[in-house]
Amino acid sequence: MKHAMHANLILVGPMGAGKTAIGKPLAALGGWRFVDADRLLEERLGVSIADIFAMEGEAGFRQRESALLSELLAESGQLIATGGGVILAEENRRLIKKSGIVVHLALSVAGQLQRLQQDRSRPLLQCPDRAERLQAMAQLRTPLYDEVADLRFSSEGLSVDAASRRLHGLLRCHFSHCLQEP
Ligand code: S3P
Repeated sequence: MKHAMHANLILVGPMGAGKTAIGKPLAALGGWRFVDADRLLEERLGVSIADIFAMEGEAGFRQRESALLSELLAESGQLIATGGGVILAEENRRLIKKSGIVVHLALSVAGQLQRLQQDRSRPLLQCPDRAERLQAMAQLRTPLYDEVADLRFSSEGLSVDAASRRLHGLLRCHFSHCLQEP
């Protein structure tokens, strides 16, 4: 039930926005169990996300991503850092919306390019023009992040510490009636 006590907090948003980096300290502040969906998938399969893309293609990865999401969302009390493309499937969006408070962690393409400068692990960024790729993704996905989100929070220019504290404050302010206390 949406917004029930002990509901999940679900972070959605583009690569580099800080779903994992900000999610971890935020979970500690708010008393949620932190779950990084992509890392959990990697642990379970014993291979990297890049390997899954290489072996099964993006379609194979998306199937696994959706199956794990529905498994995770059957539980509550978790802060779930999702992968940036999880909102592409309509069924995932439906599940996300009804399974907790959803935050769109937003970041501009310029911010993404800067934060992901050293990253060589993300398969969708193995392309000659990252800016163009990220721009096209943002155009398609930003409305979908907003569609599922209860709150949009920009991590632009913020340290992990500042972002997690500020977001925690906002959540307490707007959703205190449905957040568990640590
Ligand atoms: C993806 C984002 C990645 C990961 C996969 C696909 C995407 O997660 O799920 O590489 O489609 O945007 P992060 O958002 O944590 O980088």
